[in-house]
Amino acid sequence: MHSSIVGTGAYLPAQLVTNAELARRIDTSDEWVRSRTGIRQRYIAAPDEQTSDLALAASREALTIAGIAPADLDLIVVATTTPDMIFPSTACILQAKLGASGGAAFDVQAVCSGFVYALAMADLMIKSGAIRNALVVGAEIYSRILDWNDRGTCVLFGDGAGAVVLAPSDTPGILSSHLHADGRYRDILAVPGTVANGKIQGTPFLHMDGGAVFKFAVKVLAEVAQEALSANDLPSSAIDWLIPHQANIRIMEATMKKLALPIERMVSTVAEHANTSAASIPLALDIAVRDGRIRAGHYVLLAGVGGGFTWGSVLLRWH
Ligand code: UT7
Repeated sequence: MHSSIVGTGAYLPAQLVTNAELARRIDTSDEWVRSRTGIRQRYIAAPDEQTSDLALAASREALTIAGIAPADLDLIVVATTTPDMIFPSTACILQAKLGASGGAAFDVQAVCSGFVYALAMADLMIKSGAIRNALVVGAEIYSRILDWNDRGTCVLFGDGAGAVVLAPSDTPGILSSHLHADGRYRDILAVPGTVANGKIQGTPFLHMDGGAVFKFAVKVLAEVAQEALSANDLPSSAIDWLIPHQANIRIMEATMKKLALPIERMVSTVAEHANTSAASIPLALDIAVRDGRIRAGHYVLLAGVGGGFTWGSVLLRWH
């Protein structure tokens, strides 16, 4: 038994904010943000939009492409660091908004690696025979956990959602997944706050040691890609498309260089979307599938890295 992606979907909020617009509010410039990160713009959710709304729009697209009804989903996993509320899970809220009930639904919290973690879980559950159809979503509203006066972080992130439907197949599909974490690095990227006794405890805004995150990301993205290639006995040249976490074009380019892969084989959306955390990989996947870059038989390697620290890969052969 194998699993295979049978539909993809994406959603970006309507409000587009350029670097130039940010430069009117804080001490930054389009030139700084572009040259240090590759980011040109980001999308920001409307005040009445919740993460589950973004997830819903992306999920509907993926389900339509897959030709699978919400009632036929045995599992919904939402990877998010910005859930609608502390509980219930965004996955349960999404399930209700889709008009489904009865299947399993839960959130995965692995920050920017969340989608890779969630996809790996769903694949293993299908392979084990425990379930048939799964909806796997990465959805985030980072604009609500950013300090918009901190130029070191607020220029880097955006909001959005990407979704895939995973179904059983006779041939793979998903070839392998490898997941890792090292909690010793928990402080270099964190929102170190919570709600207790009716008050916010600690800080509810994202804090980051940009340089440390940069170095860690370049190291583990290349390592986890090599791990996937070794496990499948493939040379790096076999990879048709690498979809790394979309945080900074310099991190992504350095990863391609370490793998000796031409830059043309990387899917990049960081210029248009900025860093959408768990949504970044499924958003990029959806775009490359829809514009015809990813075709049947292609090897596609998804490589995530994020707070925790967490990192991981999913290698798949497009159907
Ligand atoms: O999902 C993972 C999430 N996080 C990341 O991926 C972030 C990884 N790290 C990075 O992408 C980079 O480290 C940054 C983009 C955050 C920073 O780039 P950098 O080339 O490492 O710049 P830097 O930290 O060395 O900062 C250089 C200067 C500093 O000024 P001084 O101290 O040299 O005078 C900063 O204060 O740039 C300043 N700076 C800015 N200037 C204009 C920091 N942010 C900005 C800004 N606009 N937005």
